[in-house]
Amino acid sequence: MEPAASLHFSLPASLLLLLLRLLAPVSAQFTVQGPADPILAMVGENTTLHCHLSPEKNAEDMEVRWFRSQFSPAVLVYKGGRERTEEQMEEYRGRTTLVSKDISRGKVALVIHNVTAQENGIYRCYFQEGRSYDEAMIHLKVAEYFTPSTYPLVVILAPILAILIILMAVSICCSKKLHREKKILSEEKDVEQEEKEIAQQLQEELRWRRTLLHAVCELPGTMGPSWKGPHAGSPLAF
Ligand SMILES: *[C@@H]1O[C@H](CO)[C@@H](O)[C@H](O)[C@H]1NC(C)=O
Ligand SMILES: *[C@@H]1O[C@H](CO)[C@@H](O)[C@H](O)[C@H]1NC(C)=O
Repeated sequence: MEPAASLHFSLPASLLLLLLRLLAPVSAQFTVQGPADPILAMVGENTTLHCHLSPEKNAEDMEVRWFRSQFSPAVLVYKGGRERTEEQMEEYRGRTTLVSKDISRGKVALVIHNVTAQENGIYRCYFQEGRSYDEAMIHLKVAEYFTPSTYPLVVILAPILAILIILMAVSICCSKKLHREKKILSEEKDVEQEEKEIAQQLQEELRWRRTLLHAVCELPGTMGPSWKGPHAGSPLAF
């Protein structure tokens, strides 16, 4: 009883499975290969995403598709021997080129013109022929120069930098002025010192001359204080 029932149910089930297999796309017969390393591009450049069939196979009558997170609309769709712009994402319209000169050998490339920072990420290159399909993953890395997203930082930093530069200039100016004033002051002091020394020398000389004169006047045996020399310290007033 049991085996018969099992047979009864398994026959339509396997038939259904076979039918499903016939209808659904199957992965077989070829593989799609893309670059192993990420593709690097700068914002504003044209970038090319290559992929090819392995083994080599004519893909003219296949569906070829580059897509990102969603299958359709895609970045670029080639089907029935032509590009399908109606299945292309708005942001890629007029900015892509399909390089198909080697499509008969299973080699294609997608050129994205004037690439943007938002286009950084994973791309899938998909080939389908009948029920056979495969895809390759391509990593596109878009690097930015100075872009509007980094612009606000510049806007904030620029005035701060300007103020810093002005402060620095002012402080340099002030310190130079201070230095100059100090120099003048010290020069004045030097001159003063020199004048003092000259005055002292003159006083010394005057004292010496007076003493000499005094000594000469009292010389021939006269009394009075005897000659003691210029530095004897006779109390002479000036
Ligand atoms: C990029 O593609 C544009 C067409 O959109 C072309 O005019 C330009 O010359 C290309 N630039 C480079 C560097 O190939
Ligand atoms: C490239 O794209 C930017 C904005 O996405 C645009 O301003 C610029 O004009 C474009 N350059 C070219 C050569 O198409």
